[in-house]
Amino acid sequence: MLEFLTKKTRFLGLDIGTTSIKVAELHFSGGRFQLSSYSILTNYGHLERLNDAIQTSSFKISEQSVAGMISTILKKSKIDVADVVMSVSNFSSYTTVLDFPYVSDREISQAMPFQAKQHVPIPMSEVVLDHQVVEEQSGRLLILLIAVPKDLINRYIKIAKLCNLKIKAIELEAISMARILMAKDPNPSLILDIGGRITSLVVTDKSSVRMTGTIDIAGGDLTQLLSSGLSVSPMRAEEIKKAYGLKPPPGQESITGLMTTVLDNIKLEAERMIAAYYRKSGRTINQIYVTGGSANLIGLLEYFSANSNLKFIKGDLFELGLVDYTPTA
Ligand SMILES: Nc1ncnc2c1ncn2[C@@H]1O[C@H](COP(=O)(O)OP(=O)(O)OP(=O)(O)O)[C@@H](O)[C@H]1O
Ligand SMILES: [Mg+2]
Repeated sequence: MLEFLTKKTRFLGLDIGTTSIKVAELHFSGGRFQLSSYSILTNYGHLERLNDAIQTSSFKISEQSVAGMISTILKKSKIDVADVVMSVSNFSSYTTVLDFPYVSDREISQAMPFQAKQHVPIPMSEVVLDHQVVEEQSGRLLILLIAVPKDLINRYIKIAKLCNLKIKAIELEAISMARILMAKDPNPSLILDIGGRITSLVVTDKSSVRMTGTIDIAGGDLTQLLSSGLSVSPMRAEEIKKAYGLKPPPGQESITGLMTTVLDNIKLEAERMIAAYYRKSGRTINQIYVTGGSANLIGLLEYFSANSNLKFIKGDLFELGLVDYTPTA
């Protein structure tokens, strides 16, 4: 756990997604995270223009624009907390779990750059490395190696500066998600975060991250398919998707058919990841936590659960009692 988070101070969580920016004001009290304020700014431009994502691997929108959006959210939601924890999306980072003999922390740190060279597809001079021991077992260590492009870190530093925010930590989204969502569930699990442009897959076991992956099929594809299939504008398609999901009114069942190919592909990727984890560790995943904005699609969990031995759980932090919401006046 990032230690300062537990010192009762208020802090901001900032998530710059591909299609939205989310700001949460939190504090840690009574052994739990309390959310006091939350705000989302969604960019619908990406539905009309594929290149109009807030964040992609090639950074389409300038730091100035992103900072402007964040400042607007902070002003509107009257948040004046300066300490911020920023999340790095799984699609822009690299992770791998290494099996190590039991050695000292110093030796691990020294070995990481050599290990990283073999696993990370970009030059070491262009990444920031970090690692986390995820398990100790019979004289061996399982170590999660994380590599984040320096460009991305520099971009975040610039954005924070422009918004007068003080970065307390920059953390991989997968790790933040596992910490909070899996805090009470040590079972081998898959977190399936279906966002706007990206679906992120994170295997956790004993509550820590074991594998990560991303695919670029997500909620935006559902909207685009509805838009072309029903010959309506992307904005209208977005409304229809949110209003009916997979349970449209009688006579409009074609809506469901348009979306299921995308959902079947996402489910297939989830099953592939589960099989890969089994091959690697011999451990079976029986449950999937579905999160991200698209987890709200009406009927989604039912659809995924049909003809499946897997248990699908909505990864809703409030419903699961993992975060309290105590709005400030
Ligand atoms: N009620 C709803 N029903 C169906 N889909 C929804 C609903 N609410 C939001 N979505 C979809 O969720 C998606 C956005 O999810 P999210 O906010 O997790 O994305 P993001 O974090 O900005 O993007 P990414 O994770 O790709 O970087 C959009 O495609 C949106 O249409
Ligand atoms: Mg996201």
